[in-house]
Amino acid sequence: MRSALYVPGSRPELFGKAMSSRADVVLIDLEDSVPPAAKDRARTAVANWLNETRASGPRIWVRVNPGSIGEADLAAVAVAGVSAVCLAKTESADQVHAAGAVLREFEPAPGGIRICPILESASAVLAARDIAAAPRVDRLQLGEADLCADIGVEPGPDDRELWAVRSQVVLASAAAGIAPPLGPVRTDFGDLGALQVSTMALARMGFRGRACIHPRQVAVVNDVFTPAPAELERARALVARFDAVGGAVLDDAGRMVDLAVVRRARRLLADQ
Ligand code: COA
Ligand code: MG
Repeated sequence: MRSALYVPGSRPELFGKAMSSRADVVLIDLEDSVPPAAKDRARTAVANWLNETRASGPRIWVRVNPGSIGEADLAAVAVAGVSAVCLAKTESADQVHAAGAVLREFEPAPGGIRICPILESASAVLAARDIAAAPRVDRLQLGEADLCADIGVEPGPDDRELWAVRSQVVLASAAAGIAPPLGPVRTDFGDLGALQVSTMALARMGFRGRACIHPRQVAVVNDVFTPAPAELERARALVARFDAVGGAVLDDAGRMVDLAVVRRARRLLADQ
């Protein structure tokens, strides 16, 4: 899972374009990219589109609204072919339980649809551990635009004002044993150089994959989260050498390799 491309649910003419992009996930949005007056129409259009059969292409996720509109969204999109729903503005584990109950009522296969809570407020980030440990949770996401408005942060060029919050979400995910969080969107989709630099920083920080808003962002994000063949080869050789010797060994650059280093290499290989 490297990239998830958002598409406004109110623009069905873009769904096909998104499905033919190289994104790993197409993320149909029913929340803030859809104006309030268009919510019902968008939900119906998305449900109709989801009910058409598709043989292949990216996985499909849907971002749903909070509150009662969100319950109607969940009921409409709990269909075969949707692998996860993203819960906008999740504040607590109780909300994840409640969404799970709606899914249980409507989904075609029990437990088949996963949940990706989006944390967009101070209280949501502080509840990240509980939210990450709730049933069906696949991975967390940060909604940084809303979060910045909530906590009064104005990010600078390298987003360092958000590093502590981002790390907290990585820690909460690892502690709960779920997948690492999906990186936040970058809105200046014209600047692919800045996208690459900031995505590399997210990767070093423990994020896996990133949400995109424009098709041209997808290739850059996929590239950052695709390990080079040489990197995989090094990891394989390291694991093999460690398994053969069974203790601390030296790598090809003469550095000590112990179990912790081997765990990282095994994790890289397991992600493939
Ligand atoms: N999914 C699929 N196709 C998309 C797309 C998307 N998210 N964004 C743009 N495209 C298509 C355009 O339709 C256009 O196709 P064409 O060449 O066949 O005409 C092509 O990609 C180039 O688009 P461009 O003209 O550069 O962008 P735009 O001005 O049409 O759209 C946005 C810019 C930001 C409005 C649009 O990318 C968008 O709506 N993104 C998603 C926003 C969203 O869902 N936000 C919620 C989460 S934060
Ligand atoms: Mg938001």
